Amino acid sequence: MARFLKWLGIGSVAVALLLVLAISLTIGWRPFFGPKARPLTDRTFVRTPERMARGKYLFSGCEGCHSPHDWTQHDAPVPSGMHGAGQILPFSEGVPGRVVAPNLTPDLETGAGAWTDDMLARAIREGIGQDGRALFPMMPYPHLRFLSDEDVASLVVYIRSLPPVRNTVPKTEIVFPVIYLIRSVPEPITAPVPPPDLSTPLKRGDFLINVSGCSDCHTPQRHGEPIKGLEYAGGFILAGPWGRVASANLTPDPSGIPYYDEALFLQAMRTGYVQARKLNQIMPWWDLRNLSDDDLKAMFVYLRTLKPVHHRVDNAEAPSQCKICGSNHGTGNQN
Ligand code: HEC
Ligand code: HEC
Repeated sequence: MARFLKWLGIGSVAVALLLVLAISLTIGWRPFFGPKARPLTDRTFVRTPERMARGKYLFSGCEGCHSPHDWTQHDAPVPSGMHGAGQILPFSEGVPGRVVAPNLTPDLETGAGAWTDDMLARAIREGIGQDGRALFPMMPYPHLRFLSDEDVASLVVYIRSLPPVRNTVPKTEIVFPVIYLIRSVPEPITAPVPPPDLSTPLKRGDFLINVSGCSDCHTPQRHGEPIKGLEYAGGFILAGPWGRVASANLTPDPSGIPYYDEALFLQAMRTGYVQARKLNQIMPWWDLRNLSDDDLKAMFVYLRTLKPVHHRVDNAEAPSQCKICGSNHGTGNQN
């Protein structure tokens, strides 16, 4: 009996050790202990005309999610007076729960009126909400962490200047186990982030494409993770009030957009049309059209350097199963 108990003891220790090892090697301990977060500071950002202008330019890239839209229209307009007032994100496929982009206007009760500057700054780049929880990474903080200190200051200054809008949106509710898994995503920033190197169009385009999170939609995913080798190859499904479409292959492969030139790219981003073909409004052209010519041209320079990936995706065709990305999209059966 004693021997049996001894073996049982050793057995349990072995199982426990294996479990520790398995957790350390796979999901890590963050899901159990909570996200990595730095303490809040009491820093505040001084409002200057330069920061207001830069913040306005940058905030345009936040509005796709943080403002409500009429998703049935080609230019997905924001109802007047609702800039920054938040919305329940209307994706009907592939989202693990109810994802809500909060009201960021300075309304005291329904918005960010009571949040400090550093709460906003930490949320934007480091993914920790004002209440200390890990934000669902559809909020693109893994990309926004490359924003310089000055750009974050500009964003916060601009957000603070928005007219307060009284608009109650519900809280995000992420299902188990994803709610625990996302706790390993936030990474604190503890050193200064200098301005990016924008000295050539390629470097500028690299920065802009990455900080804009084009890959979140244009790289297909499996179990919520981008599929390796299919970077920017399209096929990610976006379903909602705009219909059901797959993102496009942006690589220069013959199955992607090899026929694009700078003029066509600018036309697509400014008008939402690729010659006569209308782009679905879930592609945020209505937001990208606000970028300067130089920024758009630099983005195109970077897109040209993407590794060509063979993956046919055509929303004009009926959806069919695709062997390459595993989802159901137009011309999937021709891959
Ligand atoms: C693709 C959609 C999307 C984009 C683009 C986006 N956000 Fe968010 N944001 C969200 C979602 C969703 C949440 C809430 C996540 C959660 O509740 O777990 C969020 C949360 C936040 C929060 C935290 C609020 C809190 O609870 O503390 C801040 C601040 C914020 N976003 C600012 C921004 C800014 C500034 C930008 C642009 C630079 C931006 N967001 C771009 C979707 C987005
Ligand atoms: C919210 C998801 C989403 C984001 C973010 C997004 N796209 Fe798209 N994009 C799409 C979808 C969906 C399509 C396909 C639209 C259609 O076929 O009507 C598309 C189509 C395009 C096209 C047209 C390709 C063609 O077929 O001619 C270009 C170019 C493009 N996106 C560039 C970008 C760039 C650059 C970014 C980042 C700055 C970006 N997209 C961000 C969803 C997105």
